Amino acid sequence: MRQIIHLNRDWEFTERFSEGFAVGIGSYEKVRLPHTVKQTPYDYFDEQCYQMICGYRMPVTLPKGAEGKRVFLIIEAAAHCAKVYVDGALMNTHKGGYTAFETELSGVLSDDRTCMLCIEVDTRESQNIPPFGNMIDYMTYGGLYREVRLEIRSEKHISDVFARPSVPLKALKTDKPINEIVFGGTVESDVIIDGAGDFEIRQTVFPYNEFDRPLVSRSFLKSDHMRLTLPGARLWDVESPTLYTLRTELIEEGVFIDRVDTTIGFRRSEFCADGYYLNGRRLKIVGLNRHQSFPYVGYAMPRSMQRYDAELLKNELGVNAVRTSHYPQSQHFIDRCDELGLLVFTEIPGWQYVGDEEWKDIAVRHTREMVTRYRNHPSVILWGVRINESRDDDDFYARTNAAAHVLDPTRPTGGVRCYKKGSLLEDVYTYNDFIHNGTNEGCDSKYAVTPDMNKPYMITEFNGHMFPTKSYDSEDHRLEHALRHARVIDSVYGYEDICGCFGWCFFDYNTHRDFGSGDRVCYHGVCDMFRNKKLAAEVYAARKDDEPVLAISSSMDIGEHPASVRGQVYAFTNADSVRLYQNDSFIREYTHADSPFRNMPRPPIGIDDFIGERIAEQEDFAPRQAQYVKDILNEAARDGMENLSLSAKRKAAQLMLRYQMSFEDAYALYGKYISNWGDSAAVFRFDAVKDGQVVESVTKAPFTERILHADVDHTALHEGATYDVAAIRLRMTDEHGNTLSFCFEPVSVELSGAAEVYGEAPVLRGGMGGLYIRTTGEPGEATLTLRAQNAPAVTIHFTITSGEG
Ligand code: GAL
Repeated sequence: MRQIIHLNRDWEFTERFSEGFAVGIGSYEKVRLPHTVKQTPYDYFDEQCYQMICGYRMPVTLPKGAEGKRVFLIIEAAAHCAKVYVDGALMNTHKGGYTAFETELSGVLSDDRTCMLCIEVDTRESQNIPPFGNMIDYMTYGGLYREVRLEIRSEKHISDVFARPSVPLKALKTDKPINEIVFGGTVESDVIIDGAGDFEIRQTVFPYNEFDRPLVSRSFLKSDHMRLTLPGARLWDVESPTLYTLRTELIEEGVFIDRVDTTIGFRRSEFCADGYYLNGRRLKIVGLNRHQSFPYVGYAMPRSMQRYDAELLKNELGVNAVRTSHYPQSQHFIDRCDELGLLVFTEIPGWQYVGDEEWKDIAVRHTREMVTRYRNHPSVILWGVRINESRDDDDFYARTNAAAHVLDPTRPTGGVRCYKKGSLLEDVYTYNDFIHNGTNEGCDSKYAVTPDMNKPYMITEFNGHMFPTKSYDSEDHRLEHALRHARVIDSVYGYEDICGCFGWCFFDYNTHRDFGSGDRVCYHGVCDMFRNKKLAAEVYAARKDDEPVLAISSSMDIGEHPASVRGQVYAFTNADSVRLYQNDSFIREYTHADSPFRNMPRPPIGIDDFIGERIAEQEDFAPRQAQYVKDILNEAARDGMENLSLSAKRKAAQLMLRYQMSFEDAYALYGKYISNWGDSAAVFRFDAVKDGQVVESVTKAPFTERILHADVDHTALHEGATYDVAAIRLRMTDEHGNTLSFCFEPVSVELSGAAEVYGEAPVLRGGMGGLYIRTTGEPGEATLTLRAQNAPAVTIHFTITSGEG
């Protein structure tokens, strides 16, 4: 059986690699993987700082009994060119920072001698390797930023399993809920064996990672067409992502010599000319683009943080898909997408630029590496085989398409463009549609973009640079950001033949000097860099079903707006309706029918009446008079007295002529019903109602108290294959839980016990921030205390366990 030895601790690192370092000479610092060659500030840093030729080394002795076995070093990622040495001798070179690679070290490493394993990593952006060659709108941090391990396999072993689970068409012809559909699921597979012999191959299907309950098992001869059927199989779907583990065992002369476990899911994923179908049902893909970066540590985050991002996408933002822009991402992230039922569009590394023949050869190899390493994931539904937003290059893209199709006949290819009517070698036309500018339609039609209406079409980016938005921008700006996301999604829903769309992007990210706001940050996220939601995130969150969502776009402070004109207020909710109260008196109940958006489910609801029946009840007015006054005041509150519409002006004229009302009356009524200046503060309460019950409530009232909130993703940390990191998201709110969007404060950190701060101490920007803590290698406990001015301190306790497995 194979033995796995994680090599993530006790590396010696130098920023200046030399040949001497490769054999054990020279100074170093001790580091653990995932590692970034340079921790960076939150913003304002120069991308030169992480560019170097650095080295990692570690003395390695194989465990007893490894002699005579096959030994492989697996590096999940080394950005951007890695050379593997043992005792100074070069064993392998790998170009490209986003795909895993294997180096065979059989007969080189030994169980009775210590060898110096050294990995030289060139992190410079000047290399002739994708994505380099021109400008790039994201930082390309270097180092061994994913995990590294040794695998000791028997001399003859399984080198790959490609499993192809399928669902019989007739099983999908039913109206039953997805999780009630049961069928005989077929798994065909290719098992690639390294070594010759008369092998028996046994395949067993288990419930996902539960090995005491085999569901079905079958034995094959090596030459057989491997195919087994699992009776009672259930679907993998965005709603109920049932997974199974396929265990493949290699047997020679009755002896088990190797075993590989593969996660599988039964699903039917189809991109069609008229839209996308999952398990025979039409599904509008609504996703976000994800970079793999984090503040301070670049790409270097372990399993828990990779999984956390997938969880936030699915559980907090409610999207059904993610695009791994612009490169393949951590297996941990994709594993979690499998578990959560989050669809994945993954693509080869690159950004706009296509290089020379050598560069293209590397991109074709990246295509092969991507497809072979990710093709068993049920969540992956589409391969991106073009360099993001590059020009047509038929010879080159014929090669990447062929590479993907040969290695995976089950999935279609796409390739992201920013050009219309390009040469379409892929199965799906995937296009970044940035047409929306705030005043026009949300997206172009399929017809306007694609050269072939018979092929499927999908929008892979929108918004982004069209409207950068900081968490501390003005309220009007943050609202417009959210509305732009809603307008595009609404337009996409208006076209049945657009398979879906991916917003740009999940969170703000550090970028090169040619992009962003001059501080090396692109503020394109619907979340900030710490994954705190901005208002735009609520457009997506309102799609969720599992827990109530209610967000109100305004703090209701009119002074935040030019000329104290509040503008339109929106509610983002997944409830049936929203009831508005002012100082506990009911004003009006709104539903999604009160939205200006007509196509998307659960669109933002426009809240435009803050008066309700109060004028009719409290003033001695005729019914029509009360109605007109109310209409005018609501409009004036939204757009300003000076900007009344023609219809409101007509009503004002009638009020003057017929009811002898004056401007003074109007101002007095405005003061009483809208601005509420004076000693009785206006308190607005918004209640979200679902199935007749109030499920969530938001209160907007003048601020009196600051409360610091720390939302930690997990407090039970575990040092397993490597260190663990916990993310703590910070938010300063008032006593009603409303973010204080203009609060800028340092937060002091006290941390004792078996953990350390990973990155910098936090600062609140726009009332939001975050920090990361990581385990030190020791089990135990840790206590974190966070303090900000004029707010109660927050204390969090962590327990830390250790041990592999
Ligand atoms: C696209 C590009 C993305 C990002 C985005 C910003 O053109 O593919 O990487 O730069 O623009 O809107």
